[in-house]
Amino acid sequence: MSLPRLLAGIDGAGAMSLAAHSAVHGDLPLESHRLSRDAHGKAAVIEELRGSGLTGRGGAAFPLARKLASVAAGRDRPVVVVNACEGEPASEKDRLLLERLPHLVIDGALTCARTVDSDRIIFAIDANHPTARWAVEAALAERSDTGRRGLAAEVLEIPAGYVSGQESAIVNHLNGGRAVPTAAPPMVFERGVGRRPTLVSNAETLGHVALIVRHGADWFRELGTPTEPGSLLVTLGGAVAEPGVFEIEPGAPLDWLLSAAGGTLEPARAFLFGGYGGGWVDAGDAADLEIAGRPLRELGASLGPGVIVALPESACPVAETARVAAWLESQSARQCGPCVHGLAAIAGALHSIAAGAPEPDVLTRLTRWAGLVTGRGACGHPDGAARFVASSLRVFAAEFADHAAHGPCTACLGAPVLPLPARVAVPA
Ligand SMILES: Cc1cc2nc3c(=O)[nH]c(=O)nc-3n(C[C@H](O)[C@H](O)[C@H](O)COP(=O)(O)O)c2cc1C
Ligand code: SF4
Repeated sequence: MSLPRLLAGIDGAGAMSLAAHSAVHGDLPLESHRLSRDAHGKAAVIEELRGSGLTGRGGAAFPLARKLASVAAGRDRPVVVVNACEGEPASEKDRLLLERLPHLVIDGALTCARTVDSDRIIFAIDANHPTARWAVEAALAERSDTGRRGLAAEVLEIPAGYVSGQESAIVNHLNGGRAVPTAAPPMVFERGVGRRPTLVSNAETLGHVALIVRHGADWFRELGTPTEPGSLLVTLGGAVAEPGVFEIEPGAPLDWLLSAAGGTLEPARAFLFGGYGGGWVDAGDAADLEIAGRPLRELGASLGPGVIVALPESACPVAETARVAAWLESQSARQCGPCVHGLAAIAGALHSIAAGAPEPDVLTRLTRWAGLVTGRGACGHPDGAARFVASSLRVFAAEFADHAAHGPCTACLGAPVLPLPARVAVPA
């Protein structure tokens, strides 16, 4: 089987029924040796996932098998949380999975729950995505296997926000607190929902589990590279003819993906990889680029949750960066000083450049501030925002210098390219 894997059988609108899902993928081998309920069977599932090399698709690319083993080793009965918050504005893959292929994600959650002997699965879904919630609720109602053997599955809303999808923020909210990150340790896999060991896994990650448990680790590794095996979902946006969610194998050429999306609408100035916690790659460097973590890291970017945006030459990268930085600053949970003050200073300085009223040496100070906020928060939000801004300053150095010296350009007034959930007030 080549591609598509996760997206196999997707057509028309609406969620794939359980019958159609079973016809495409076959039944989940709940009773087979892979998912047998004895300790040997559980260890076998973890070993299969370890052998597959599956890493999390929520952004950090952490090996799933290691997390499962830690959760399984806890003293209390674990909880499984499906992270379908998708707070990244340029990402649509998790919503697509839940709205169109909910049984795939449910299969993956069920597999992990059985493997760690959990009695509770929670689908954590952004409150602004009600159609995803309805699709999962309807899919759960179709199934008899989620209610058996005392395993409860439910859908819970998480308040919308960029940081509310961070795993400790979800757990804090599910424990009755605000959806804001908490300081670690303890990590959620040690003490999470109801103080029980908690596996928080991205919806796409669990979709892959559903297929690995059916076809095995070797099958998963038939695609991708030895260090980044399997397939992954990419949300491609910006100046392309047919933006949307694509399933690719790591190492696929960017050119190939752009062709699959009908090509670019006009010459690209740069590509954003990894969303607003990722980084820009100059179009010249992207010419022969392979879409995978390693080549992207060499260019100061990352794949993050699989977001790629093509910025056309007609757009103003300074105005785009200032707009997104203001939004990122507005998303701070306002708990850690460097995040609160650092992101405000960065957003303010970028606005001053975009507006044509920068203070002397603003570019030097921006670069310094981006370095200063990194690693200084309780969660990865300031690191991601700093990465995004630092890559903008590097890739668009000429445009920033021009704006700092001469003020706004004509493209500054053009329609925004990078998507944001709502209009934001730019800090004065
Ligand atoms: C600011 C911030 C926001 C995040 N938002 C999401 C999110 O919306 N969805 C998601 O799956 N992971 C998100 N993450 C990553 C989660 O904390 C966690 O690593 C992930 O859900 C683990 O699943 P995975 O191992 O399957 O990737 C976010 C992380 C940070 C630092
Ligand atoms: S780093 Fe920022 S977003 Fe993260 S917990 Fe601290 S204040 Fe909140």
